[in-house]
Amino acid sequence: MQFTTTQDAPVDASSDCLIIGLTEDGQPGSSFQAIDQASDGLLSRLNEAGELPRKIGKTLVLHAVPGVTAARVLIAGLGKTDKLDGVRFYKASCAAGKALRQSRATSAHCLLTEANVADRDLAWKTRQAALGLAWSDYVYSATKKPDADAFPPTERVSFPHSDEAAGQTGIAEAVQAGIQLCRDLGDLPPNICNPGYLVDTARRMTQEHPGLEVEILDEERMAELDMNSLLAVGQGSANPSYLIHLSWRGGPDEDRPLALVGKGITFDTGGISLKPRDLMEQMKFDMCGAATALGVMAAVAHLKLPLNVDCIVAAVENMPDGKAYRPGDVITTMSGKTVEVHNTDAEGRMILADALTWTGQFVKPAATVDIATLTGACVVALGHHASAVMTPDDALAEELLAAGNEAADRGWRLPLWDDYQEQIDTPFADMKNIGGMPAGSITAGCFLSRFAEGQRWAHLDIAGSAWQWGKPESASGRPVGLLVQWLVDRAGGWSGLGR
Ligand code: BES
Ligand code: MN
Ligand code: ZN
Repeated sequence: MQFTTTQDAPVDASSDCLIIGLTEDGQPGSSFQAIDQASDGLLSRLNEAGELPRKIGKTLVLHAVPGVTAARVLIAGLGKTDKLDGVRFYKASCAAGKALRQSRATSAHCLLTEANVADRDLAWKTRQAALGLAWSDYVYSATKKPDADAFPPTERVSFPHSDEAAGQTGIAEAVQAGIQLCRDLGDLPPNICNPGYLVDTARRMTQEHPGLEVEILDEERMAELDMNSLLAVGQGSANPSYLIHLSWRGGPDEDRPLALVGKGITFDTGGISLKPRDLMEQMKFDMCGAATALGVMAAVAHLKLPLNVDCIVAAVENMPDGKAYRPGDVITTMSGKTVEVHNTDAEGRMILADALTWTGQFVKPAATVDIATLTGACVVALGHHASAVMTPDDALAEELLAAGNEAADRGWRLPLWDDYQEQIDTPFADMKNIGGMPAGSITAGCFLSRFAEGQRWAHLDIAGSAWQWGKPESASGRPVGLLVQWLVDRAGGWSGLGR
């Protein structure tokens, strides 16, 4: 989807669809009034009759409105004026995008940005409306071709011209490219998107963006580095494991990079601690941490962010096999710390342990954020609405939570108090890889913390937020928005980007 701005008056806009917002209680916006006038009061008559959507998430498409060039007018409910915050505005934009996708329009002129949104300026509203419309335009097509009569994608969306809005069109396209990549990878089946496919994807990204560089560590190289914990998880799979390292050098040479470390389990059977058969197919999404890290890198490269950023992906498949690692095994990780395996299904932390150690040693980042679909317990705790943020560093937690609020891609903090650490004690190694039923997400975070010692580090558990349930289900592209915002904040803000 491409974004532009235009000086055209709404009623004259040369696009297939006008998109306007309507609150439950406020005065209708200026475009509503302009369309109402052009159509001899059609909108106000419908509004008075209670025919127009006003609640958040509700939409209606009117056809052939008199006096309007566009063939359709899409009205999106914005809910109560005093409740209209960033998250609700983004939701309304997604709902508008869904209605747009379910029409024959291939272009639109978006006037949602006329609404007053608490604490948000025009630049923010333009960027987030664009991202919401694009989010809903996504349709998976890699292994299922659309019907001949399926609704077409929206190719172009314009916004009313202003300097603030014009500055956001390129930015929104860049962020959208990252979200799209993340969703594409998350949705692909595990027989296509295996560890080698993630390697190919990283290589392809370096061809598209000359500023990106890639380094691939194969199993032989990882064995030399004693990355035994990562290798143990992959040893039951016929698909070789890889560590993928992408780097972007947009900042001064002397600046230490920010690092994103992604869990890239391309399929999680649970291994010898085999998962139950029902819903196992969902575990293709266990590489969404990796997909997020790669998506963020794509956005960073599109934005040409003036910052040094590294992405490290542990790309591994977790399978049961005669060669697979087993419960009871004690593994010496790259850090030298030993781990007793109690459950081969707690594999994410095993691969991230070595990926974090490698990152600390070879990237020496200023801060590290790992992203992982790590625990089912996280879905129980937070559902699908928030990514869990865990870090011993209060300032880093604050940065990430603030970025999530700004991007309408929220996180919520869970504690990493020392009190939880003893749950992973064992007589047979420095730690075991599970901490029992209580606080399963936190004990996983505690495990990771031991491999991030000395780093400014945070862990995002995205088991709930990475997947969008409902119809159609698909990878959500989260938390690409949160992390891009975090990086942009570190780089001094959006101004000057995306040109
Ligand atoms: N990838 C899963 C986490 C997961 C499970 C995410 C279900 C979403 C839904 C992870 O590798 C896993 O299997 N975790 C185990 C950990 C347990 C063995 C301590 C889990 O959550 O059950
Ligand atoms: Mn697992
Ligand atoms: Zn997993």
